[in-house]
Amino acid sequence: MASSHCFAPLVFLLLLVGCSGRPIDPLPSKTADATNRQPLQTSRPYNIAHRGSSGEIPEETAAAYMRAIEEGADFIETDILSSKDGVLICFHDLTLDETTDVGEHKEFADRKRTYEVQGFNTTGFFTVDFTLKELKSLRVKQRYPFRDQQYNGKYPIITFEEYISIALDAPRVVGIYPEIKNPVLINQHVKWADGKRFEDKFVETLKKYGYKGSYLSKDWLKQPAFIQSFAPTSLVYVSNLTDLPKIFLIDDVTNLTQDTNQSYWEITSDPYLDYIKDYVVGIGPWKDTIVPVVNNYSQTPTDLVSRAHAHDLQVHPYTYRNENSFLHLNFHQDPYAEYNYWINEIGVDGLFTDFTGSLHNFQEWTSFNDKNASSLLHKIASMVSSYKKA
Ligand SMILES: *[C@@H]1O[C@H](CO)[C@@H](O)[C@H](O)[C@H]1NC(C)=O
Ligand SMILES: *[C@@H]1O[C@H](CO)[C@@H](O)[C@H](O)[C@H]1NC(C)=O
Ligand SMILES: *[C@@H]1O[C@H](CO)[C@@H](O)[C@H](O)[C@H]1NC(C)=O
Ligand SMILES: *[C@@H]1O[C@H](CO)[C@@H](O)[C@H](O)[C@H]1NC(C)=O
Ligand SMILES: *[C@@H]1O[C@H](CO)[C@@H](O)[C@H](O)[C@H]1NC(C)=O
Ligand SMILES: *[C@@H]1O[C@H](CO)[C@@H](O)[C@H](O)[C@H]1NC(C)=O
Repeated sequence: MASSHCFAPLVFLLLLVGCSGRPIDPLPSKTADATNRQPLQTSRPYNIAHRGSSGEIPEETAAAYMRAIEEGADFIETDILSSKDGVLICFHDLTLDETTDVGEHKEFADRKRTYEVQGFNTTGFFTVDFTLKELKSLRVKQRYPFRDQQYNGKYPIITFEEYISIALDAPRVVGIYPEIKNPVLINQHVKWADGKRFEDKFVETLKKYGYKGSYLSKDWLKQPAFIQSFAPTSLVYVSNLTDLPKIFLIDDVTNLTQDTNQSYWEITSDPYLDYIKDYVVGIGPWKDTIVPVVNNYSQTPTDLVSRAHAHDLQVHPYTYRNENSFLHLNFHQDPYAEYNYWINEIGVDGLFTDFTGSLHNFQEWTSFNDKNASSLLHKIASMVSSYKKA
């Protein structure tokens, strides 16, 4: 590629799209070597691939996570549950019914159970009644009928360890974002031989693969991880086991916490944020609690983001989805308008999205729309000097 003409000031603007049309901030390269991987970006809100690239490929499968990495995820997100024999797996629902072919497996027809989950009787095929070997015989399917069905029946459930190895094998630094899912129910139904509880097994797994260190520490940047949970007692408990950063998930205003039976209002109060900030670096609220919705239109935002920020807590809301059935009408069916609103007006620090590729494109395409001219010139100058060296 001829590069000499690229130094002329007149073509600075061309540099913004790259002299050869190459993206300035390259997409994950399959050729990068493991010892010198592109670091995690920390200068803009985190792109958190919710259950992988779950808008495209059945959630929490290896294929969904690999696609999310290709598309530019900063973190791949997952839910950790357990099999009957105590192996930690990546799966969202407590029951297998919605997103696997368990209903077609006659050999498991007698496994249907009813358990009380957070005050409600729930009936189905629970992961805690299947061994890992049995779970591995199932195949995952797409949750929503309006998404691509071509991958149904192709991919197995993966374990926590398999998920970690996908992140560690990525061609650039990709963080993990596992949830301690339904700890109350898991600890009731699964007993580990060594007397340890679910949270101990969860942290042991992270340690086994070298995950450690506080937020933005050298160790953390090498292998970034956020631990998330809706259960405050689990977050407090694991704080004694690891200094990895934790995120307190917050459900809709009607749900009580599964372990402490506290209301939304209590856990988002200033005194509570004061308490929990000793254990977590941020909160992960359902986005409709930040911007309430009436008749499909977003309303005036609440003060939750500014109060969380005043307590030095990051805010990573969930879940951003491209489809019209999820987009509020204010966004005129444009997912980029939704990202723009949440990033540039609400000012969140991370976003859980089913469509990592869309969020990545939005952030790439707007990353030079910097209102600060001096910082823009600085970026251009550093690009030019790195070009000269090359
Ligand atoms: C769940 O079902 C059991 C057995 O039928 C019943 O005793 C219990 O009250 C039910 N719990 C709830 C929360 O409905
Ligand atoms: C954390 O460890 C301390 C010291 O060992 C102990 O006193 C405390 O009860 C522990 N907290 C939890 C939540 O386990
Ligand atoms: C919130 O409560 C509803 C039942 O009211 C339940 O269906 C839903 O799963 C709960 N959310 C979580 C995250 O537990
Ligand atoms: C949880 O709190 C609700 C409302 O405050 C109450 O009705 C319910 O009995 C409580 N449940 C438990 C298990 O304490
Ligand atoms: C909101 O509008 C979309 C169309 O843009 C529609 O698909 C969706 O069902 C509506 N949601 C509700 C809760 O009315
Ligand atoms: C603009 O960006 C530069 C470099 O990032 C920074 O030093 C400066 O304080 C910024 N100015 C304003 C007004 O934000």
